[in-house]
Amino acid sequence: MHESNVKIVDVLNRFSKTTIGIVGFGHLGHSLAIPLARNGFPKDRLMISHGSSEATRERAKMLGFGECLTDSCHLMSNADVIIVAIRPQDALALPRSGVKRAALVISFMAGLPIDLLEMVFGQGAKRMMCSGPDTILSGRGVAAAYPADDRAIDVVRMMGMRAMSVGSEEELDSFTVGICIPPILLNIAVREEEVLGGMKKMESRYPVYGQLSDWMRDVMRESPKDRDACLENVSTKGGISEAMTSALKSGSTFEAALSHGMERGREITAEVRKNILLRHAANL
Ligand SMILES: NC(=O)c1ccc[n+]([C@@H]2O[C@H](COP(=O)([O-])OP(=O)(O)OC[C@H]3O[C@@H](n4cnc5c(N)ncnc54)[C@H](OP(=O)(O)O)[C@@H]3O)[C@@H](O)[C@H]2O)c1
Repeated sequence: MHESNVKIVDVLNRFSKTTIGIVGFGHLGHSLAIPLARNGFPKDRLMISHGSSEATRERAKMLGFGECLTDSCHLMSNADVIIVAIRPQDALALPRSGVKRAALVISFMAGLPIDLLEMVFGQGAKRMMCSGPDTILSGRGVAAAYPADDRAIDVVRMMGMRAMSVGSEEELDSFTVGICIPPILLNIAVREEEVLGGMKKMESRYPVYGQLSDWMRDVMRESPKDRDACLENVSTKGGISEAMTSALKSGSTFEAALSHGMERGREITAEVRKNILLRHAANL
């Protein structure tokens, strides 16, 4: 169905008996919870867990989500939809037993491919990626799922995001790089021709860059007041935007910075794959 024909109220109705759990309340987790609640998803069916930070707990309370707080173990075994918004390196610390058979697990973790997600969360776990907190909170967020999944896409629609489609997991990885571009360009000056050239090159390999270019223009037209915060919010420690930013700062071209972003994604995958396989071997 065309995005403009989808009404959030209809989507909310489809989820009227569903409990949603958001694991992780950092940059991304909180920016998913806020629009979900703002768009009418009831807090008594929303669960939120985080790690050990007292500051995060206080922040959740301050933002009005105190009643949603629970531990990851309770969340994982009770939520119908489990949204994973923690660093990929922390995924192994999550309790896996007790996840309902019919639960929909949606991972937003960059660089964690489906085969590893299934090893951690079981078969049927879905992989999604979305744009950064500032775009989501201002109603201009975009997301993509691979493989395409109607329920996962409905979940991001309830958060006010627009879905884009990707045709392969590698294209989803390229989407992850693409969504980091606006906050980076708002902070680091790059010649327009260089940006256009880099985007065209990506589009020749990954068609989603056609849609991403339009979205990027739109997002950058209304530049946010706090540009530094905008970049910080999208910069998960050790993640892809961090790699792209430091590449540009150390003199790389825009095209090379995009390659650094793709490469960092592959490094995260290799790092987490090693740990997951080690744990599986230990459990055999
Ligand atoms: N930031 C973005 O723009 C963005 C966009 C798309 C996707 N992502 C992906 O989203 C994930 C999170 O990124 P982020 O930037 O939000 O990171 P972040 O700000 O560092 O937040 C990570 C959150 O995970 C929590 N956490 C750690 N271990 C946990 C556990 N065992 N159970 C429950 N929660 C746990 C932390 O809790 P404490 O606060 O208590 O330490 C923190 O709230 C990453 O995988 C990233 O690739 C991020």
